Amino acid sequence: MYSLLFIIGLVFFGRRELVHVLDCYLKRNLKENGGLLDEVIWSVNTNKVDDLAYLEDLLASNPSYRKHVATKTYEWYIGAWEAVDDPSAIYLKIDDDVVYFEDNAIPALVKRLLDNPQYFTVSANVVNNPALSWVHGHMGLYKGYYPEMTSPSQPPPNHSWRASELPSYEGPREGPEGFAKNGSTPPPFKGHRWLPVRLPEGETYDMSLAPVDTLTYDAFGPSLKNWAAAAQIQYSFLQHLEEGDTWRYKFDIWDYNYKRLSINFLAIRGSDILDVFPFPERDDEAYLVQTRPQQLRRRVIVDGTALAVHFAFGSQYNAFEGKKGIRWTDALDRYTAYADEVNQRSRWWNRKSRRLI
Ligand SMILES: *[C@@H]1O[C@H](CO)[C@@H](O)[C@H](O)[C@H]1NC(C)=O
Ligand SMILES: *[C@@H]1O[C@H](CO)[C@@H](O)[C@H](O)[C@H]1NC(C)=O
Repeated sequence: MYSLLFIIGLVFFGRRELVHVLDCYLKRNLKENGGLLDEVIWSVNTNKVDDLAYLEDLLASNPSYRKHVATKTYEWYIGAWEAVDDPSAIYLKIDDDVVYFEDNAIPALVKRLLDNPQYFTVSANVVNNPALSWVHGHMGLYKGYYPEMTSPSQPPPNHSWRASELPSYEGPREGPEGFAKNGSTPPPFKGHRWLPVRLPEGETYDMSLAPVDTLTYDAFGPSLKNWAAAAQIQYSFLQHLEEGDTWRYKFDIWDYNYKRLSINFLAIRGSDILDVFPFPERDDEAYLVQTRPQQLRRRVIVDGTALAVHFAFGSQYNAFEGKKGIRWTDALDRYTAYADEVNQRSRWWNRKSRRLI
């Protein structure tokens, strides 16, 4: 019944250092590599020459990759949706700064959407997605981490993504001198690390002292804006990744009940876009998760089994002037190192499978 269904990745293309990471996970999910994606459309959302040059290399790297450039000018991000042209296809809308997703994520989203025609769209269970960050906090997923405020005297070893290789944080329980958990402290220096609070067995870290204590169940507020909470969220996730217990993030479904959801990674039918394109509201996100689902009385659901990580929101990047924010941590280098390792493994797997054929 599903045999003629096309499944298409739709990435809003922008920043090459982030796309370099995402590329690894998309390639694993192409049909030729055992995934569900028939193709990936890179919908161009930048005019930076270096990023556009990188896109050309990316397109040359796989025949299932193509780009779309909007044929006219639309408001905000609406133009990126112009790439949708197949009403019977399912589109996976993915932000360029999704830096990790599990192999089952796309199959889970597609199945959930197909099994539930009443759903308008199904979102992945996204780490660093404002309201969900609060949910993950209450699931007990965050670990104690604080920034390293001064450069270590010995340069740290080459990038590893492994939390276990970080030195322990040794400082006051409420964080380094002068550090405020609400994100009002600027990041100390470019490439700084966040260090784990390692307590003697039997002691619990008091999470009310931590940046994640400021998170709220809200699409806006500190969950969107506190760069320090975002850093703690990312280093906590990397620790779970190393410890092999990302299953702790999972649940069945979470109903957004027509409330605002940040659309970093979701599955949606081509027909539901084409019916209303170009959208009558300039804010594509508000329109697709609130206005339109409410008109149709079709829900927006998070599939808790489809785990993905979103690197950062604009307000977490630009917490302070000069793009001082989460990018001043080394979290992206860690995700890059992890993706490079996954790539090494995939190449080995590809070679082996070709030999078998
Ligand atoms: C560490 O990184 C530098 C710069 O990328 C490289 O020249 C060096 O060989 C690396 N060292 C190790 C031990 O991998
Ligand atoms: C953040 O916390 C600091 C230290 O507690 C406080 O001085 C400052 O007013 C707070 N800022 C905001 C915006 O709440």
